Amino acid sequence: MQIRQEVFDDRAGIYAVTHAAFSKDDHLVEPSEVGLVQQLFECDRYSPAFSLVATNGNTVIAHVIATWGTVDGKHKLLGLGPLTVAPEYQGKGAGTALMQAISDRAESEHVSGIVLLGATGYYQRFGYEPAVSRGIIPSDPVWGDHFMVRVFDERSLPTGHYRYAAPFGC
Ligand SMILES: CC(C)(COP(=O)(O)OP(=O)(O)OC[C@H]1O[C@@H](n2cnc3c(N)ncnc32)[C@H](O)[C@@H]1OP(=O)(O)O)[C@@H](O)C(=O)NCCC(=O)NCCS
Repeated sequence: MQIRQEVFDDRAGIYAVTHAAFSKDDHLVEPSEVGLVQQLFECDRYSPAFSLVATNGNTVIAHVIATWGTVDGKHKLLGLGPLTVAPEYQGKGAGTALMQAISDRAESEHVSGIVLLGATGYYQRFGYEPAVSRGIIPSDPVWGDHFMVRVFDERSLPTGHYRYAAPFGC
C-alpha cells in the first residue's frame, strides 16, 4: 500500500471507492458522499495538499480529504471528511495510514488543528477529542462529542462557531 497526494487521474477511483464504501443495500443508488466529494473538489475550500489516496499498485483503495471551514466566519480551520476505505480493504490499516498521513501533512503545513464529525471510538486513537472542550462549537449541537478536533498548535487554534465548507450544507 502506498500513500500519496491525490492527482486528477485518481478521481474516478476515488468516486468508485466512495460509492462502494457508503452504499447501503442498493448499489444502484448513489450515496450522497459521492456528490459531496465531487463538490469538495470543485469548491474554493479545496486544497490538494489535504486530499490523500492509498493505492495498491495503480488502484485507489482509500481516500481522505480535509477542506477549509471557518470559525466565526473569519478564521480558517480544516474539516476532515469523508474518510473512505474500499469494503474489501477495510480493517487492514488503510484508514489508520491515511489518518496518520493527513496529520503529518497538517503538521508540516503548520495547521493549527483539524475538526471532524465521526465515531469517537475510531478517531480518539488518532488524538481527536471533543471539539467543544477546546471551544469549537458545532453548527448542530446534536453532534455532541462526535464533533472532534485534533490540535496541532493550541496557541493558534481558533475558538468559536465552526462551519464546514459549503458542500457539506452545515
Ligand atoms: C471507518 C473506516 C474509515 C475505517 O478504516 P479501516 O481501514 O477499515 O480501519 P483500520 O484498519 O485503519 O482500523 C481498524 C480498527 O478501527 C476500528 N473501527 C473501524 N470502524 C470503526 C467505527 N465506526 N467505530 C469504532 N471503531 C472502528 C476497528 O474495530 C479496528 O479496531 P482495532 O484496531 O482495535 O482492531 C472504513 O471502515 C470505512 O471506510 N467505512 C465506510 C465509510 C465510513 O464509515 N467512513 C467514516 C465516516 S466519514
